Amino acid sequence: METVVSGIRSTGKLHLGNYYGALSNFVKMQNDYNCFFFIADLHSLTTHPTPADLTQTVRQVVIEYLAAGLDPEKSTIYVQSDVPEVAELYLYMNMNAYVGELERATAFKDKVRSNPDNVNAGLLTYPVLMACDILIHHGTKVPVGKDQEQHLEMTRTFGNRFNRLYQVDYFKESFAFSYSNKLVKIPGLSGMGKMGKSNGEADCIYLSDSEEIIRKKIMRAVSDSGPTALNQQKPDSIQNLFDLMKVVSSPDTLSHFEDLYNSCEIRYGDFKKQLAQDMINATNPVRTRIEEISQDNDYIESVLKMGAEKAQASAQKTIKEVREIIGLKKLY
Ligand code: TRP
Repeated sequence: METVVSGIRSTGKLHLGNYYGALSNFVKMQNDYNCFFFIADLHSLTTHPTPADLTQTVRQVVIEYLAAGLDPEKSTIYVQSDVPEVAELYLYMNMNAYVGELERATAFKDKVRSNPDNVNAGLLTYPVLMACDILIHHGTKVPVGKDQEQHLEMTRTFGNRFNRLYQVDYFKESFAFSYSNKLVKIPGLSGMGKMGKSNGEADCIYLSDSEEIIRKKIMRAVSDSGPTALNQQKPDSIQNLFDLMKVVSSPDTLSHFEDLYNSCEIRYGDFKKQLAQDMINATNPVRTRIEEISQDNDYIESVLKMGAEKAQASAQKTIKEVREIIGLKKLY
């Protein structure tokens, strides 16, 4: 069985775009691959979160992923910092990563531009740590988006360079992987396209949002003054709301409001009320699960303990072999 490795950013809560998109694929791929899902808390340190925030966001991310269906029995779910072997491999691989190539990484250059007063070495070597996350488990499939392609290419470069330097055929190449190419695209509420935090908080419906907040956000979603001609093409902001309805409502409800739109009889207030209710119903199970898991510290602890043990076993084997290859042998 091939190995999938995926690092989850430990910043923040899941929105519907994550839930119906990448995450629904994660849930499915657990049956077909040997999956390692981890919270990338070491990577977060590049932005200097406060200790309390870091602990709290890692916990929240774990809760939400479990609530959404990641299964600790099927997959290895762990926190990156629980596997210090990753940091050890990172040290070794840093000897083999050139400053020039790290400086040329687009994500690094973007960070330098957006945060010129925090260009730390951890940021520069972020791709090395990411490569180690993957290489330590000999992952070959990495479910990431376009923005991470370059980091995967660097992962292959570092692995191949190690193999060449030590004349071994040890690390495998890993590639971006999309479990299903029929990924559902979830538009945001601001009419700006895909749901995403970068379009502002009001663009996103979070899994942890209360029913009341969901209603409020939907009622305030960008719309217009209504259709003025029969069967008129919908502007983006309205099409987005219909696209959301397609995901959470029944086909009958959708066609009911399509008809009202086409005959210019739609009342956006009613339309949004229905959309909000259906969205609440569709996400109710996961919201309830988030609440349940949040209360159950024993469960969270047992999941993370099991995940750490499984991930450590895999990582320790790699570290032992890598030390051997490098020539770090015990002389006593
Ligand atoms: N850099 C990834 C992101 O921003 C997160 C990540 C860290 C990751 N390590 C990884 C993803 C290893 C896949 C594999 O989304």
